[in-house]
Amino acid sequence: MLDALKFFLFVILLLVTIMLNQHVTSKRSAELDLELLWRIQDTKGVFVIQNQTVPSGVYSALEQSMIIGSLLEDYNDYNTSWVGETDWIYRTNLSCLAEDYRYVLLTFHGVDTFASVYLGEKLLGVTDNMFVRYRYDVKQL
Ligand SMILES: *[C@@H]1O[C@H](CO)[C@@H](O)[C@H](O)[C@H]1NC(C)=O
Ligand SMILES: *[C@@H]1O[C@H](CO)[C@@H](O)[C@H](O)[C@H]1NC(C)=O
Ligand SMILES: *[C@@H]1O[C@H](CO)[C@@H](O)[C@H](O)[C@H]1NC(C)=O
Repeated sequence: MLDALKFFLFVILLLVTIMLNQHVTSKRSAELDLELLWRIQDTKGVFVIQNQTVPSGVYSALEQSMIIGSLLEDYNDYNTSWVGETDWIYRTNLSCLAEDYRYVLLTFHGVDTFASVYLGEKLLGVTDNMFVRYRYDVKQL
């Protein structure tokens, strides 16, 4: 299914929490910058890194969690080549009072590079370009 040489990033969104102000009146527009905590893991769940913020990178998260050493040391760029050959999942929880809004758009300002984006079990789309913004209308979901 996946080309192992490419760096695939799976972004899975579950129930996420967007805390909307109770007093926001109907049909108003609001842009919310979601400061969520993400869990980063490989598909087998061998390496799990909790409470990560985005923007983030798999290598820097692994390095901070002492799973891999510095890429600048010895042969570590070679030793850690498995990281790029592994599929990684970014997962977070959010929720939203969707009925208060005409549209609810989930916007990704940069996904590097090949990823499938899910909200719950539903595939929203796939990404293949980190320089474009991906936006999904999720009101009906
Ligand atoms: C992640 O954050 C939650 C809530 O703030 C906390 O309970 C938990 O201990 C944290 N986990 C790790 C591994 O830091
Ligand atoms: C990379 O692997 C080699 C061979 O196993 C080892 O000698 C070296 O210490 C490793 N480098 C780092 C930075 O872990
Ligand atoms: C999302 O919420 C569920 C249920 O509370 C919890 O088990 C899971 O660890 C959370 N996931 C993340 C990435 O915080």
